[in-house]
Amino acid sequence: MIDPKLNEFIVALPKAELHLHIEGTLEPELIFELARRNNIKLNYASEGELRRAYAFKDLQSFLDLYYAGASVLITERDFYDMTMAYLKRAQADGVCHTEIMFDPQTHTERGVAIETVFAGIARAVREMQQQAGLTSYLLMSFLRHLSEESAFETLEAALPLREQYKDIWVGIGLDSAEVGNPPDKFQRVFTRCKELGFRLVAHAGEEGPPQYVRDALDLLHVDRIDHGVRSEEDPDLVKRLIREQIPLTVCPLSNLKLCVVDDMQDHNIARLLRQGLVVTVNSDDPAYFGGYVGDNYRAIATSLKLSKAELAKLADNSLVASFLPGYRKNQLRQQLQAML
Ligand code: ADE
Ligand code: ZN
Repeated sequence: MIDPKLNEFIVALPKAELHLHIEGTLEPELIFELARRNNIKLNYASEGELRRAYAFKDLQSFLDLYYAGASVLITERDFYDMTMAYLKRAQADGVCHTEIMFDPQTHTERGVAIETVFAGIARAVREMQQQAGLTSYLLMSFLRHLSEESAFETLEAALPLREQYKDIWVGIGLDSAEVGNPPDKFQRVFTRCKELGFRLVAHAGEEGPPQYVRDALDLLHVDRIDHGVRSEEDPDLVKRLIREQIPLTVCPLSNLKLCVVDDMQDHNIARLLRQGLVVTVNSDDPAYFGGYVGDNYRAIATSLKLSKAELAKLADNSLVASFLPGYRKNQLRQQLQAML
């Protein structure tokens, strides 16, 4: 159990969540509700049975369930409901800004129009911004188990929507099965996205080797690395990440659930932080991994005995590593300093 005072401190920290798959926020209750609404038959008899299946041995065993869960998303309202539910939970955790990944190919492959995906997510994002001041950016992500050609097709399909969503759609990501799908597979499409002026992120060094982190930097020219925890195996890479202040969006509960680490007490986020890496705390797929961003802060605070100053540094890193404009970053960082 966490000390209530420490919990209050964690919630009060102004923080950004930078590594979040919106499809990974679908709680079993909402999966069942959307399945009923859309007349979709699920392979599980109840919400409890579905939740009990969330025992993963690796990334792929999770991805199989995650894509099955996303199959209940059909209408604009479904994407809106999912996004709004997440934003409310993020707000309750003291999140002031989020950068949300979504995977259009998961939906277009099932015949859902990309316009529907954008519209539902964006409506919730804009509503929450107006009503509560919680800002969000969108990172459209390519599935790396599919071809680069499919990524190019997705980009072409989305570009006509760019003007309509230019206030929120700022970047491009790369996710799904990492090992066997190295960064170089997506070098041409990422080059194109950079030319188009998008901010770039890629998952690397979650299950894949440190070389994938190097290649994400050198071949894809990403601004941040999603996960990156395996970078620690390569001391020269660690030195580079410190020197270049490349942010890592670390997801402690995800790493535990997907057996990237065996025990939270062994997680390297505290070591990386203490060496001077720009590490941040995020929830990845909170409905599947046992907690939202606040739960991730609480888990590492207790397991790794982080000080308040270290927790505040993690929150500050999240503001620094965000794609917010400089003036807004400064405002939020000042709020954080004022709280301390
Ligand atoms: N898609 C959703 N969550 C992911 C993760 N942790 N790694 C890779 N792809 C993902
Ligand atoms: Zn992820």
